[in-house]
Amino acid sequence: MKNYKKIIIANWKMQLDVNQSSKVAKATRKLLSNNKASRDIQVVICPSFLAMTEVAKVLKGSKIALGAQDSFYEERGAYTGEISVGELKKIGCQYVIVGHSERRQMGEIDEIVNKKVRAILSQGLVPIICVGETFDERREGNKDMVVMHQVYQALHNIEFDKKQKIIIAYEPVWVIGSGQVIDSQEAAHIASVIKQSMIDVFDGKDPAAYSIIYGGSVTPNTVADFTKLANMQGTLVGGASLEAKVFVEIIKNA
Ligand code: 13P
Repeated sequence: MKNYKKIIIANWKMQLDVNQSSKVAKATRKLLSNNKASRDIQVVICPSFLAMTEVAKVLKGSKIALGAQDSFYEERGAYTGEISVGELKKIGCQYVIVGHSERRQMGEIDEIVNKKVRAILSQGLVPIICVGETFDERREGNKDMVVMHQVYQALHNIEFDKKQKIIIAYEPVWVIGSGQVIDSQEAAHIASVIKQSMIDVFDGKDPAAYSIIYGGSVTPNTVADFTKLANMQGTLVGGASLEAKVFVEIIKNA
């Protein structure tokens, strides 16, 4: 997998049906096809599971990569409703979001996140590990501790090789979908905290290649506040990725 300077990821959540997903993917591909500014940017689209095969067809032959919003940690068996990483890989999926706060709220605990990261890496895909504090945790002054703990729990006891790639997405829970972003100084600080946690969990050794990105109400007007930072490489975009024109503006401004 090529190493890009920046990465911009669309998380469509449960917002688009299969038809709409296909249409937005087509429009995004078309708008990006002649865009020089996006050459050094890896763009990833994470549709719903149901829309993934259609979107995979649309993206085939383009530089836009396909991602999933979740996956299970076992490869096969009696696991009703789950989707394995191996099956995702077969349809061309290269990235998997794991530990999104919306899933953590539904019971995805750190132990599950760790198992999923392990499964994703073992298939050669890239985990996009989401971390971030709630408003109460922040108000109580525990933001850094919460993020450090989540990074450690997601990655401990996993053997890495240097070819593997990890993305850590810092998404403050209270900012998601709020229209409000944190300021870039704070984002730079938390990126250093994440970097230190990675060094700690890897016992000071060189970890696998990793990128730190920001997510939470990113728009074309705010994306550069994060991508300009030396220690942040991109953004994870929810609402503003649902319309091709707006998403492509984000990519152009990144
Ligand atoms: P919004 O961009 O809609 O705030 O969503 C962010 C997010 O949760 C991406 O995973």
